[in-house]
Amino acid sequence: MEKTTPDVEGMLKITDTRTNKEYQIPIQHDTIRASDLRQIKVKEDDFGMMSYDPAFMNTASCISRITFIDGERGILHYRGYPIEQLAETRTYLEVAYLVLNGELPTKKELEDWTLNIKNHTFVHENVKQLMEGFRYDAHPMGIFVSTLAALSTFYPDSKKVLDPEMRQRQIWRLIGKVPTIAAFAYRHSLGMPYIYPDNDLNYTENFLSMMFKVGEKQYKPNPILSRALDVLFTLHADHEQNCSANTMRSIGSSHSDPYCSSAGAAAALYGPLHGGANEQVLRMLDEIGTKDKVPEFVKSCKEGHGRLMGFGHRVYKNYDPRAKIIKKMADEVFSVTKKDPKLEIALELERIALEDDYFVKRKLYPNVDFYSGLIYKAMNFPTDMFPVLFAIPRMSGWLAQWQEMLTDQEQKIARPRQIFLGYSKRDVPK
Ligand code: CMC
Repeated sequence: MEKTTPDVEGMLKITDTRTNKEYQIPIQHDTIRASDLRQIKVKEDDFGMMSYDPAFMNTASCISRITFIDGERGILHYRGYPIEQLAETRTYLEVAYLVLNGELPTKKELEDWTLNIKNHTFVHENVKQLMEGFRYDAHPMGIFVSTLAALSTFYPDSKKVLDPEMRQRQIWRLIGKVPTIAAFAYRHSLGMPYIYPDNDLNYTENFLSMMFKVGEKQYKPNPILSRALDVLFTLHADHEQNCSANTMRSIGSSHSDPYCSSAGAAAALYGPLHGGANEQVLRMLDEIGTKDKVPEFVKSCKEGHGRLMGFGHRVYKNYDPRAKIIKKMADEVFSVTKKDPKLEIALELERIALEDDYFVKRKLYPNVDFYSGLIYKAMNFPTDMFPVLFAIPRMSGWLAQWQEMLTDQEQKIARPRQIFLGYSKRDVPK
């Protein structure tokens, strides 16, 4: 059952030892409102107390009903449904609908949703020309981020962010167009002609066609691979208030259009500590080279020479449930592709790290990025494309977070406070 907002659950009593004054702060959802601290002052004209929380380690910035994570127990739900059940029984487009609309689609809703997305898979020819302007060796994620922002200039109606119909139209457009932009970015790096969308194919089949089609009349990917990619898309659809979702909300809070906001979110995702980690995992496995070098590599990580990429998470202090699903899926994928010898290194790395006191003490477990890269690689995606493959499905999550923020009466333009420790006023020397 969906949670409703309970009344105040109790009061937090605070004594300020500077003044010996006592305050009572209401508690709701096991949380206090930071603005309730402002009444705590020494002098009447003081600004009042703030809470200091670099990197939002313990600050809720919103009330959300989209995604639930229990990091200690390794649980992930979208709108209440366990990720394992969704990955097993639903397609990515159904899950994207769920994440955005709160309920799984009926048959008719799914037909309409799919049709609307298919109607928006093509991009304006000028978008293609714009992408052609990038250097041949441009990183596809740089192309992807820039092209998303450029779409803003093609759809000025998207600025009406408070109009639900306008928002819906941009949602169809963005979910429809991201595979096309991603595939064009890849073809660009190869100097290969861009392949237009084939709307007779499903979402992931069409993406694979735009990526890999060469001379055939219709590209038909292996169903095991297109289904595996669809599951990967489901696993990446949303992940509550992560760095890129927070960026989407923050940019969107100034009422920027969703193209500019999602370009910012994609830029946040690109970093190696977030969605760029899958790319770094493969580079790390290459660097290790052979299974026997794993202990030496783990030792150097512990000594502070770099991190074990694909390990650790701000919220999960247990095995990432998405990594579990991907690890299981790997065998299925490798049954139709060449087995990557790097899988052996990854398994050894996981085995050693999970037994090592350093990782055990810090609760560092494999995350979603640890095995996803190996599957992408087996499917012939180049390493550069991995963050883009994360961004395509995450678009549904960014848009859901954006829409929830815009329709939340309590939200305003995002504007954190600071503790200022610089100079107080001083005169410029004469
Ligand atoms: N390898 C080695 N040590 C690590 C790692 C790692 N991957 N991750 C954290 N630590 C250590 C860290 O050095 C620190 O040790 P100490 O307490 O001695 O200083 C401790 O564990 C806590 O780390 P933290 O940096 O305070 O943790 P965080 O919550 O700020 O960082 C993280 C989370 C994901 C950025 C981090 O674990 C990391 O850099 N992992 C590698 C990159 C990666 O795989 N990112 C993908 C995240 S999942 C996909 C996504 O959602 O984007």
